[in-house]
Amino acid sequence: MDHFLYRDGLLHAEDVPLDDIAATVGTPAYVYSHATLLRHFTLFDEALAGMPHLVCYSVKASSNLALLSILAEAGAGMDVVSEGEYRRARAAGVPGERIVFSGVGKTRPEMRTALEGGIRQFNLESEPEMRALSEVAVSLGVEAPVTIRVNPDVDARTHAKISTGKSENKFGIPIARAREVYAEAAKLPGLRVVGIDVHIGSQLTELEPFETAYRKVAELTAALRADGHAIDRLDLGGGLGIPYERSNSAPPLPVEYGEVVKRTVGQLGCEIQIEPGRLIAGNAGILLSRVVYVKQGEGRDFLILDAAMNDLIRPAMYDAWHDIVPVAEPAAGAETRPYDVVGPICESGDTFAKGRPMSPLREGDLVAFRSAGAYGAVMSSEYNSRLLAPEVLVRRDHFAVIRPRPSFDDMLARDRVPEWI
Ligand code: LLP
Repeated sequence: MDHFLYRDGLLHAEDVPLDDIAATVGTPAYVYSHATLLRHFTLFDEALAGMPHLVCYSVKASSNLALLSILAEAGAGMDVVSEGEYRRARAAGVPGERIVFSGVGKTRPEMRTALEGGIRQFNLESEPEMRALSEVAVSLGVEAPVTIRVNPDVDARTHAKISTGKSENKFGIPIARAREVYAEAAKLPGLRVVGIDVHIGSQLTELEPFETAYRKVAELTAALRADGHAIDRLDLGGGLGIPYERSNSAPPLPVEYGEVVKRTVGQLGCEIQIEPGRLIAGNAGILLSRVVYVKQGEGRDFLILDAAMNDLIRPAMYDAWHDIVPVAEPAAGAETRPYDVVGPICESGDTFAKGRPMSPLREGDLVAFRSAGAYGAVMSSEYNSRLLAPEVLVRRDHFAVIRPRPSFDDMLARDRVPEWI
């Protein structure tokens, strides 16, 4: 459920008609709903009720400070993968003890920043990284709380580019070697083992891969405890998918996911941590765009929008589907016609949808890409020297620009031309 609904013939974000936002801010623009974001965080929090837990929002999904501040205030932890994300989480008011540092390539300066600023745990992904963190912690005279990310070799049955739990993926250490690696971690100075971490992929639309992975983690917990390690915390990653194509998909709900967690690891007496990103932010955002031209091609009509692959890369990168809906509500039973929906960028990959049935649209009409709140704005670029789309936050009947569109002067002013050219 989200808060982007038709009312009085117009698509609204909460109580604000989207054409108001387009008139004030221009297009393309990302628009987020405060209520939807909060609701999806709460769903996870409630799904884990009854177990000691912390929901750590995965900042990579959508990282605007305003969004992070909403979640911080609601008590969320944060999962970060770079110094930039760490600083964002801190700037949004998240205390260090609620921040988890993930990622395969944390650098020593990043480790130092997190240790000095406060950190709940590092999710370590390799032995070289473990040794580096030990050195950094010793040099600062502190102890770093760590988990080790294990790769359970489970097929998440999602897109290959976002699957992370198979042995061929770069993530974690093979679960079969976990005992040996934990033994080394326990001996290294400056590290304190606090638990186990696992994350098998993103946009999972079935629960079974989670169940298989979490059972393996439960077995490992017992084995590591028998080896004398204090396994008090399990970080079970993120990955629960969302219904991008509303007409024909209904992935499991957070409450059902929570049941799997309880069933597989609930009896271990561990604190449970999860790192969802997409399910919290995905349906809390849309990308608002305007039709620039309708062009008749050979046997097809092209809907040329002012949004492009630089604004929303997911269709080009993962062949991802996003529902694209007109802001002006089509009449009930109105005819549809197939459109190839494209952006203005100079490559054929700048295609959002092919042969997509839509009610007839004209130059100047507004459309919204649904489910664009996660991995949307954060993955945008200035390719073709297009300005980054602004971000807008709606709460009930008011809205605010939470990241303005830069000016062309801003864009040009970032470059330097050396005088010796
Ligand atoms: N934890 C770790 C260690 C991760 O690598 C990820 C996502 C998450 C948590 C959050 O997963 P989520 O709940 O959002 O599925 N750009 C791609 C998705 C990449 C996901 C990367 N890792 C897309 O647009 O589909």
